[in-house]
Amino acid sequence: MSEPQAAIFNEMGRHQWYVHFSREPNADLGVIRSVISQLRSDCKAKGINLVVGFGPDLLADLSGDVPADFRKFETVASIDGSGREAIGTQEELLFWLNSPKKDEIWKAQYDARTALKGHMSVARETPTFIYGESLDMTGFTDGTGNPDPADEPAVALVPDGSLGAGGSFILAQRWVHNLDGWNEMPVEQQENIFGISKDNNDRQEIQQDYSHLVHVELREGRSGYPDTPKRDEIVRRSTPYALHDGTVGLYFMAFCREQAPLRERLSAMYGQDGQPRDKLTDFSNPVSGSYYFAPSEEQLAGMLG
Ligand code: HEM
Repeated sequence: MSEPQAAIFNEMGRHQWYVHFSREPNADLGVIRSVISQLRSDCKAKGINLVVGFGPDLLADLSGDVPADFRKFETVASIDGSGREAIGTQEELLFWLNSPKKDEIWKAQYDARTALKGHMSVARETPTFIYGESLDMTGFTDGTGNPDPADEPAVALVPDGSLGAGGSFILAQRWVHNLDGWNEMPVEQQENIFGISKDNNDRQEIQQDYSHLVHVELREGRSGYPDTPKRDEIVRRSTPYALHDGTVGLYFMAFCREQAPLRERLSAMYGQDGQPRDKLTDFSNPVSGSYYFAPSEEQLAGMLG
């Protein structure tokens, strides 16, 4: 089995830093390669978890091995007249660092972005953190529906024998919550929106047609109902953030062995197939959205030289 970037599966530190880059005109691929290599060794030396993801253009420029069906993020717009959408802001390179030590991840990404100057510029960045026992700011536990840890590699990694084996498709989005609006709602209505209990994460037996689970818990049969096996699962590693201007929300991060299950969920959440929108999108929508590919260690070694 090809070796994946270990940080996809490692236990996350409480502090995260997401940095997205776009290329400058005349960017030197040699410089980009050497900065990524340096960052990888800096993070290894400090015990920082680092995942490096490449957008479709940069991956094609650095490697012959582009996995099947790797597409750029195109805006996912609802069709119900609400104007809700998951905006596409595809960038070219993503560093996801996490560690218990915020100062060390700040320094590692600062050194890398400084060394990239003139070749790649920071398009957006978000420091995030683990909130309590993996809470989203809505007060609900996020991540309980993830696969068992032992099953995560099979869910997240391109299988051996395929282009990009051992790599993983990433979806990265910064969702902005209307947290005041959310908190004004009775808990019962909040629970109907997620389709689970706030206290103990139990799923509701009867799901509303607008519930989050009905849109994202894909099953062989009806989505959101446990009467058939799950299909096309994903591995989520989302964390909350709070910006200095009062903006709060969820940094959504998910891994999958194919890109299509990520696209299918977003399309369902925005009601593109004619079903009601995920009501969560009345309270939260993304302001960025990119797909990346996190190559295996072997592929990275070949790309970076
Ligand atoms: C503001 C954005 C979001 C919030 C606050 C949020 C929150 C939650 C919560 C509280 C749960 C239930 C607990 C759990 O299973 O983890 C959940 C489940 C889930 N969410 Fe989200 N989510 C968001 C966006 C998304 C997006 C964009 C996707 C996929 C593209 C997604 C995919 C899933 C999946 C796959 C599950 C588990 C379903 C299962 O049990 O199989 N979520 N989410």
